[in-house]
Amino acid sequence: MNWRLAVREVADELRSAGLDNAPQEARWLVEHVGGATIAELADEPVPERLAARLAGLIERRITGEPLQYVMGEWSFRGHDVMLDRRVLIPRPETEIVAEVALEEAARLGLVRRRTATSTSGRVPVADLGTGSGVLAIALLCELPEAEVWATDRSAAAIAVARANIAAQGVVASRARIAEGSWFDALPRELQGRLRLIVSNPPYLAEHELTEIDDEVAGWEPVEALVAGPTGLEALAAIVDESRRWLDAPGTLVCELAPHQGEVLARRARDAGYDEVVVRADLTGRSRILVARRGAPSVRGS
Ligand SMILES: C[S@@+](CC[C@H](N)C(=O)[O-])C[C@H]1O[C@@H](n2cnc3c(N)ncnc32)[C@H](O)[C@@H]1O
Repeated sequence: MNWRLAVREVADELRSAGLDNAPQEARWLVEHVGGATIAELADEPVPERLAARLAGLIERRITGEPLQYVMGEWSFRGHDVMLDRRVLIPRPETEIVAEVALEEAARLGLVRRRTATSTSGRVPVADLGTGSGVLAIALLCELPEAEVWATDRSAAAIAVARANIAAQGVVASRARIAEGSWFDALPRELQGRLRLIVSNPPYLAEHELTEIDDEVAGWEPVEALVAGPTGLEALAAIVDESRRWLDAPGTLVCELAPHQGEVLARRARDAGYDEVVVRADLTGRSRILVARRGAPSVRGS
């Protein structure tokens, strides 16, 4: 069997198992095992060892394991990371959170570059609840002046983030990785000095866990999904405490569920933020809280 034929056969198997996105997933799995694009692999025969490996991955996928865990890797804004069940699978909406955080960084006067190599690390910023490290990696790679604090309460997640950040090369020298609950993970000297805080914390309520897809609830770490009885616990803690950790000007950027925007915007104003904006994702749903301390004027929305 050659690689092109393999894609078709894998797609058929995935489709028969009821997977919606079978052709695309088949291509990803085959390219992952083949270590090249289908165009490059083309009509070459699939070596027996790799055919057996592919069969093992298909089996895992068919039994419901998310594709990203099966492959053990994913790409976030073009940055490759390794993934397993210790961490949440990065979502497309979190790429928008990264984009908004980078826009805010530029608005605060930080230099923004698509591939950062400089290692000055003069401006402290933080990614709270870093998981696989994807938001921290976007900040490290695209803000050459930033010293990036990546924190998580889960020791297992910290191990994954540490490996992913180290794999980014020279930019990793500007990363500081710390374990602990939200701001407890940070050294006191950072109070009033962070220019940017970004976070995608858990925001589901406990009862919502039974309402979401089995592929999420059954596989991803519950502490990455569920905040507590109301779903607002983590975001509220971050909103309430973040202002005193920020420099002025400085900005908090958080991912949230669409129905949480209004209540958290009010909470951010009550916490003393000067400007608060809730931004939408690509589908127009409110998904990102932007709270600015000491900001001169509101731009965009
Ligand atoms: C929704 S996941 C986000 C992971 C990653 N930032 C992303 O966007 O893919 C939330 C993360 O917050 C961490 N977390 C949960 N409670 C925490 C706490 N009290 N303090 C710090 N991190 C916490 C979880 O371990 C998890 O890694």
